[in-house]
Amino acid sequence: MKHHSLLFLLLIFLTYSPSFSTTQSWTTIPRMSPIPEWDPSLHDHPVAVDAEEIKSFFFKQTLDHFNYKPESYTTFPQRYLINFKYWGGANSSAPIFAYLGAESPIDNFPNSIGFLTDNAASCNALLVYIEHRYYGKSVPFESREEALKNASTIGYFNSAQALADYAAVLKHIKNTLHAQNSPVIVIGGSYGGS
Ligand SMILES: *[C@@H]1O[C@H](CO)[C@@H](O)[C@H](O)[C@H]1NC(C)=O
Ligand SMILES: *[C@@H]1O[C@H](CO)[C@@H](O)[C@H](O)[C@H]1NC(C)=O
Repeated sequence: MKHHSLLFLLLIFLTYSPSFSTTQSWTTIPRMSPIPEWDPSLHDHPVAVDAEEIKSFFFKQTLDHFNYKPESYTTFPQRYLINFKYWGGANSSAPIFAYLGAESPIDNFPNSIGFLTDNAASCNALLVYIEHRYYGKSVPFESREEALKNASTIGYFNSAQALADYAAVLKHIKNTLHAQNSPVIVIGGSYGGS
């Protein structure tokens, strides 16, 4: 059962994500290859979100979620943005809509993902946008250049690590905002949605 769903996930990744290497065997986690930074504002249709509504935060993220080696506990700053405008508040059980970043910086996503803002008011939702590791300001090893330098530094650039990052950020948000009873609905597009 577990094995089948893993295969299914891999199939989605390999079928829909041009940024993945297709030379991986079925039993390994697909590795990511870097693509140039791009400006989403040039590609998306903006929705009206006041920049004042968006607050930027950094979470002290663990470099490697799947090992107990000392270097695994190295951290890097992972950026996430929150729009509190519609939020039902602490202890309210109002939902969290979390947009999972993909292969680009997160900067303009609050202005381009209408689904979140369109549905936030009727649900009193907190809107969260989390940047994917190795993109934008969420880069380990201090700089993008260092992060992409060699096989050791690029080895932490994969979808399994990214999913574990998102879980850690969301747990942190639930704790700090007293939102333990808030359901989290995750949203993404293309690779980020798969
Ligand atoms: C939510 O609950 C926590 C823990 O019981 C409490 O410390 C906090 O003040 C509450 N916040 C609000 C806004 O009710
Ligand atoms: C990659 O670069 C880092 C930082 O300069 C260095 O410590 C490490 O030994 C290098 N690893 C490989 C496999 O070249």
